Amino acid sequence: MSTTRVQSKATAPEIVGSGSEAAESAPRRVHVVTFGCQMNKYDSLLAEGRFRRAGYATTDRMEDADVVLFNTCSVREHAEERTFSWLGELKRVKAERPDLVVGVMGCMAQRVGEEIFSRAGHVDLVAGTRQFASLPALVGDVLAARNAGDRARVVALGMDDDLAVDRAGEPWAGGSHAWLTVMRGCDLNCTYCIVPSVRGRVLSYPIDHLVREARGYVEQGARAITLLGQTVNSYGEDVPAPSAGERRWSGRQGRPGLADLLRELQQVDGLARIRMITAHPSYVTEALAEAIRDCDKVERFLPLPAQSGSDAMLRAMKRGYTVDLYRRRMEMLRARVPDIELASDWIVGFPGESDADFDASEAFLAEQAFAVNYVFKYSPRPGTGAAERLADDVPEEIKKERNQRLLRASERSGLQRNSAHVGATRRVLVDGLSDRGEGVVLGRTEHGLAISLKGEADLVGRIVEVRVESASAYGLTGTLQTYPQD
Ligand code: SAH
Ligand code: SF4
Ligand code: F3S
Repeated sequence: MSTTRVQSKATAPEIVGSGSEAAESAPRRVHVVTFGCQMNKYDSLLAEGRFRRAGYATTDRMEDADVVLFNTCSVREHAEERTFSWLGELKRVKAERPDLVVGVMGCMAQRVGEEIFSRAGHVDLVAGTRQFASLPALVGDVLAARNAGDRARVVALGMDDDLAVDRAGEPWAGGSHAWLTVMRGCDLNCTYCIVPSVRGRVLSYPIDHLVREARGYVEQGARAITLLGQTVNSYGEDVPAPSAGERRWSGRQGRPGLADLLRELQQVDGLARIRMITAHPSYVTEALAEAIRDCDKVERFLPLPAQSGSDAMLRAMKRGYTVDLYRRRMEMLRARVPDIELASDWIVGFPGESDADFDASEAFLAEQAFAVNYVFKYSPRPGTGAAERLADDVPEEIKKERNQRLLRASERSGLQRNSAHVGATRRVLVDGLSDRGEGVVLGRTEHGLAISLKGEADLVGRIVEVRVESASAYGLTGTLQTYPQD
């Protein structure tokens, strides 16, 4: 017999059973497969931490796992199709090992909900984007039902139960780099985008909490931290303004802002680099520009997706700025940080995009000379404003051609920006070993540009001075000038 426990989207899940049966002598092992953006990577670590706290072990090998969880993405149709094909692979494994628990969590789980069962009948659990605290208990539900001879299917899509999740001690993955989600959700409403509906309203974590979390990673060995948010520079906008007598920050009406967080993190001993993903043009303030200027740990690199260089498209996308406004914000930013490098995302083939609209994107990419670009073909997402109201009228062939053209424009721009660094000496944080061969390490300059150089494993996690020798469209090569100073 099969039962489905469905919790409504509006309410927190009712936890039936507990994860305690997992804490028997040989711990059950969990393996998490992550799709999607960096926020999902952070969330996967958070989920793994929840399982360890509940007495599970985590494993990197799917073959060894008793519980396999897919942390999924919904941003384009392709992302969902890829997940379903991975899930399909597991069907055979599950047929051989019926004890296996298969769970789907994250953005696609939130969007598709229990319909996942009809496309992938071997799935046992569907958990949304704010269910971390409940995950071990939800797996416990599946196991408890099985023990009772039942085939349980558990669905938990409540959006309000992880708001106070204690992240202390998690989710550092080892190595020299740590992710740090500073805010969840998105309060904007770009017409093509599924994220607000699957990730919910913005929640910014308190500054002192984030600084503590960052210190914890550094104590464990992290040297670089990437601050994550869908609109990371709107950090703090959702926090109530301080009342009389409370500390006033640099944000709107004294609210905390990303600039304050950067300045606080600059003070963390042992932290060498601070990165940010992803900024939104509407929240590029003087306070932020000045914090980037003043804090030498903060990379001079900002991902600031323009999406299009056509005002008509930006309006239809409801991005909240015009080309000219974007341009003026960048002038303000470059006046304070003249050497800042920018990255952008672009959507080609948005409904109604004419040749002239596309040409405007190509021209704007060249004008702003973005060092790094990600180009996406428009993919209608069910339930979004664009999918509901606008016909997906740019033929696939034209989308492909525009995609290729913009990638070529991106290569020209990347080569131009990277070439400007040749001959200079840059401070490089070495991130890891190259898999191209022995004796080569990879890192990032203080401008966030990828660089490779000759070096050994002892350089990983260190800041070194490197002379930039050559540039390609995608990165730099250099030679080591001084051994680590720090
Ligand atoms: N919060 C970020 C981006 C989040 S999604 C921002 O506002 O810029 C990452 C990128 O995926 C977006 O920048 C956009 O370029 C692309 N994207 C989002 N929805 C899409 C869709 N429906 N079709 C094609 N690309 C999309
Ligand atoms: Fe999506 Fe726009 Fe929010 Fe970015 S800012 S996550 S594109 S709605
Ligand atoms: Fe995908 Fe969700 Fe990130 S839709 S891009 S995993 S926020």
